[in-house]
Amino acid sequence: MNALFEPWSPVFTADPYPAYERLRASGRVHWFEPTRQWLVPHYADVSALLRDRRLGRTYLHRFTHEEFGRTPPPPEHEPFHTLNDNGILDLEAPDHPRIRRLVTKAFTPRTVAALEPTVRRLAAELVAKVKRAGGGDLLADVAEPLPVAVIAEMLGIPHSDRGLLRPWSADICGMFELNPSEETARRAVTASREFSAYLRGLIAERRAKPGEDLISALIAAYEDNEEVGPGGSRQKGGGGRGAGRLSEQEMISTCVLLLNAGHEATVNTTANGWWTLFRHPDQLAALRADHSLLPTAVEELMRYDTPLQMFERWVLDDIEIGGTVIPRGSELALLFGSANRDPARFDRPDTLDLSRAENPHITFGAGIHFCLGAPLARLELAASFGELLREAPTMRLAGEPEWKPGYVIRGVRELPVEL
Ligand code: HEM
Repeated sequence: MNALFEPWSPVFTADPYPAYERLRASGRVHWFEPTRQWLVPHYADVSALLRDRRLGRTYLHRFTHEEFGRTPPPPEHEPFHTLNDNGILDLEAPDHPRIRRLVTKAFTPRTVAALEPTVRRLAAELVAKVKRAGGGDLLADVAEPLPVAVIAEMLGIPHSDRGLLRPWSADICGMFELNPSEETARRAVTASREFSAYLRGLIAERRAKPGEDLISALIAAYEDNEEVGPGGSRQKGGGGRGAGRLSEQEMISTCVLLLNAGHEATVNTTANGWWTLFRHPDQLAALRADHSLLPTAVEELMRYDTPLQMFERWVLDDIEIGGTVIPRGSELALLFGSANRDPARFDRPDTLDLSRAENPHITFGAGIHFCLGAPLARLELAASFGELLREAPTMRLAGEPEWKPGYVIRGVRELPVEL
């Protein structure tokens, strides 16, 4: 089995899709000893399990580490876990729906539609710079700055501080790879500490002087929190877990999650997507000839080379998959990249077809944690791809890109292009 799944091998990560095909052919679940996880490669299973309430992103809402048969993380990793475990993505009911309801308000179709002119203007400015230079690194020049600027704008991060976000995010995201090293953990802990302190300061500033941004809106939800204190007195801003409110730690953690989730995958989808297009000149030519293909093209690029290859779930109550009983306390690795190439769900799954009309890819997840930012990501991708198609119709690759190390988060180091 191990020969079919080698997440630390550059050969496997460069093109994991043939191995996924063999994994799907040889069973519905596979025990992977190095990470002590059950791998799930089929679309139908990944899709059903994401909606299955017997699984959780966390188990801490129901069990202690010891009750669940797990070793607690070392105390020195605490700053990372405090930050990570209190964000919306790593909470389950009843905390998850309480916070999701508050944050969803910032991502309604109307709010996202209102961002469109800003996103288009930013995309146009970035592409104009590449055009003036006659080329550049598409990753650093367009793919990265656009989503970072948009999410920073939404949260109200001052321009002068935006350079801090990428390095903090990269260091924290290192922990989402399989079996992170001690060095990775150390960097994530430092970044978690610094990022949390930074946001605590910003929250204090916004509390004194609210703005129109999402942080100010979350503070308003926090300040609204009235709790009945001793003797029946009402206390403002307790930040407790009353209905529909959030605590200060949850606010910090959710802001960090939004800032990280709000750009990391979109950056990689943009750069990986263009690399895929350059490797499929006939499809790129079809798209250049007919820009109305753009909406289906964006969906297909997200399916064909899935930017987030895997998500994990804890088994909270025994389940059975294809005749194998998976006991409570186990961990599943849901292979999104494999699910998106499953011939049981997609016609000609290994063919890049930018006009693919029926495309229920799993790239944004499913169930209660379905990506809150999907409409925003789609808007950003349409804006940058559209602008590059219009303004850089001769753009081509100017060097061979390399994958960054890592399996879960799939991205290139740089994408050199010339016009
Ligand atoms: C959750 C993918 C962009 C915010 C998720 C999940 C996936 C995902 C797969 C669910 C993870 C799970 O179930 O374990 C992506 C991809 C993106 C993208 C592929 C870009 C192409 C964004 C953007 C934002 C965002 C732009 C926000 C500004 C979130 C949030 C969650 C989430 C807040 C947690 C939702 C919850 O737990 O209820 N994303 N995302 N994402 N995403 Fe995205």
